[in-house]
Amino acid sequence: MSGKLTSNKHKEIDYADEYDDLASQTESHSAEIIFGLAYEYIQPEQTVLDIGIGTGLSSNLFYQVGMDIYGFDNSPEMLNICKNKDITVDLKLFDLNQEPLPYANEQFDHAISVGVFHFFQDLDSFFGEAKRIIKPGGTFSFTVIVSDDGISHEFNEEYQINVYGHNQEYLEDLITKYNFKLLKRIRFLIFKDVAKTERICFEAYVLISD
Ligand SMILES: C[S@@+](CC[C@H](N)C(=O)[O-])C[C@H]1O[C@@H](n2cnc3c(N)ncnc32)[C@H](O)[C@@H]1O
Repeated sequence: MSGKLTSNKHKEIDYADEYDDLASQTESHSAEIIFGLAYEYIQPEQTVLDIGIGTGLSSNLFYQVGMDIYGFDNSPEMLNICKNKDITVDLKLFDLNQEPLPYANEQFDHAISVGVFHFFQDLDSFFGEAKRIIKPGGTFSFTVIVSDDGISHEFNEEYQINVYGHNQEYLEDLITKYNFKLLKRIRFLIFKDVAKTERICFEAYVLISD
């Protein structure tokens, strides 16, 4: 699937400009949730790769405790906003659909991916790449949209994009396949849009690489 959030260039730029406000208006606390769950496993001056870093909303908290932030995203508009925040040591324009990721084996102490995996049906290769680039003993923290039965699929009309949910069994199979261990898992709700009529159930995971 396309990683673009919309095929309309102007709308994409608007989305990037408004992204941080939208996160606030939809009461998205995924950044704080991932940071809070991972906090006990991180140290200042360690490195973290943010997969689909966007505007850097989720990395910002890791930056504030003195970590070195690396990130990639396939949206130049999102990356530009992130760059202007001056919180990263390295940013790359890169599409997650491509492999391998442009990083060395065991390059990072930790990796995070917040609000990204629900744009993809198959997460297998992301787990494989996370395993490769994270040092043994490092953590891999991410969010998914919850599906209670297999992999759910919905087409988001507003952004013209596929949205997938993943159930616990699917994720547990990947955790086992790639020799991660589940440290923490928690469900939380985010409003679907600023109208706040409907909530989406997300799940945050923190894994450790054996
Ligand atoms: C909902 S935003 C989350 C941004 C950030 N992780 C955060 O926590 O605020 C999803 C991000 O995933 C990026 N993305 C979507 N598909 C992608 C792909 N195929 N390759 C790289 N980035 C992608 C989007 O450009 C966007 O910045």
